[in-house]
Amino acid sequence: MTRAVKSSAKADPWWHDAVIYQVYPRSFQDSNGDGIGDLRGIIERADYFSWLGVDAIWFSPFFTSPMVDFGYDVSNYLDVDPSFGTLADFDEMLAVLHARNIRVILDYVPNHTSDQHPWFAQSRSSRENPKRDWYLWRDPGADGRPPNNWQSLAGGSSWEFDADTRQYYCHTFLKQQCDLNWRNPAVREAMHDVLRFWLERGVDGFRIDAVGCLAKDPALRDDPPNPHFRPGDPPFARNIMVNSANGPDIMGFVGGIRKVLEAYPRDPILIGEVYLKTGEIAPYYGAELTGLHLPTNFNLLWTPWKAAPILEVIGAYEAVLPVGAWPDWVMGNHDQPRIASRLGRAQARIAMLLLLTLRGTPILYYGDELGLEDVAIPPDKLRDPFGTNLPGLNQGRDPERCPMPWDDTPNAGFTTGDPWLPIGGNGPGLSVERQRKDRSSMLSMTRDLLALRRKEPALSRGSWTPLPIEGEALAYLRQHAGSRVGVLLNLEDEHKRLRVAEITTGNVMFSTHERQGRQRIGQDVELAPNEGLIVAL
Ligand code: GLC
Ligand code: CA
Repeated sequence: MTRAVKSSAKADPWWHDAVIYQVYPRSFQDSNGDGIGDLRGIIERADYFSWLGVDAIWFSPFFTSPMVDFGYDVSNYLDVDPSFGTLADFDEMLAVLHARNIRVILDYVPNHTSDQHPWFAQSRSSRENPKRDWYLWRDPGADGRPPNNWQSLAGGSSWEFDADTRQYYCHTFLKQQCDLNWRNPAVREAMHDVLRFWLERGVDGFRIDAVGCLAKDPALRDDPPNPHFRPGDPPFARNIMVNSANGPDIMGFVGGIRKVLEAYPRDPILIGEVYLKTGEIAPYYGAELTGLHLPTNFNLLWTPWKAAPILEVIGAYEAVLPVGAWPDWVMGNHDQPRIASRLGRAQARIAMLLLLTLRGTPILYYGDELGLEDVAIPPDKLRDPFGTNLPGLNQGRDPERCPMPWDDTPNAGFTTGDPWLPIGGNGPGLSVERQRKDRSSMLSMTRDLLALRRKEPALSRGSWTPLPIEGEALAYLRQHAGSRVGVLLNLEDEHKRLRVAEITTGNVMFSTHERQGRQRIGQDVELAPNEGLIVAL
């Protein structure tokens, strides 16, 4: 199989100017009418990725799984779940994407396996089984209680009692997701082999799921209470996860994974899911940058949508980045409410402009290019156990996982059957087909922005400098070699006249709005309500 993707020098790896697009395979395209998206469906839609202009796709898991957590509970890391297809379908999908110069990033779920994984079946069979120590088993605490106070992120204790062998096993997430013991060298070796299996097949990297959870306190000390806990918060927020995750030996585990990747010539990327504040992200790049290439940076998702805190968070992240480390930005994923629901449709366009004009690799969640909102799910259609386990606490992730609306037919071109979740887009209007025809749509805007970003190195790899400005607006400069680009974002639904010292004259390269007449700006820049501009200076 010939590879169209060419290798790049390590000093300038391919992801520095790449845009990564996340596909949640269950919800992208169904090819066989069972209502569940699959790999052949992704092959059918391959032209969409090239048309949109993204460089790499990160796929949420499609490995063999009982699907209690819809694929994040893996029972065989080395095969494709039949609901998604076969290994042959995977190989074809990889070839089809590589032929379009699109790289393929897989989801690697090392913290836990499904309770249906043969490793766990052996481990649970007896205390003497050679795989017993592949998982975290402990004797009960006082009065038969769990060994400590760790809380599962899916509700309840992190410990589940096994009546046959009279010990508890640890599960940071659902009790069907049993935590592996990464201190056991045999576990590390087996999990490194998983990486090799997919690297040999030709993948271009991994996103490590819940990476911080690999390093738990070996003494299993209790997590301390969270002083900011408020009634109505989910029960796991009672504690601060300092002993149940992110322990000091985490970088040993990450470094081991990175070493496996380094043996492959085409610069595979290593992304890691870390839900940390800006100041805590930096160590994940590792000493001398031997850790994650991109620890996911979710901070914009948590920041109030106001100029001062947004600028502060961008500046804080830029300031803590180790020398040579590359930033990344995330505005949505399969675990977070949709950005358009949080900010409204008008500001969702501004958020997209921000995501695609900051310094660093953007990770774009499928459907955000359409401005999809969270979908209200009728109670009988709720699927995510993280939600149904904790009713009333808004933990369910179904609303942001709804199928892609491709056209305005009843099942939106996603399936000929019954979709596993209601279709996204809340009725016609936001479909790909409709938005492709509309020059002013969110989709057309996103595609234009992606094209501009590809063409303009100041946007993909230039430096980032904030510009002082009054009120609810943002202004910054991107500069690379001889080119200087200014970005101006109006965060409010009102007209603004801005004066920015560094921007006295320039040509509008891009606007979130249709701009009539003069494309040249002067000292006072007029911004329509919710308008964002890119200006060549
Ligand atoms: C990560 C995934 C999430 C999953 C959990 C357990 O946070 O993004 O979807 O439920 O890990 O694997
Ligand atoms: Ca299907």
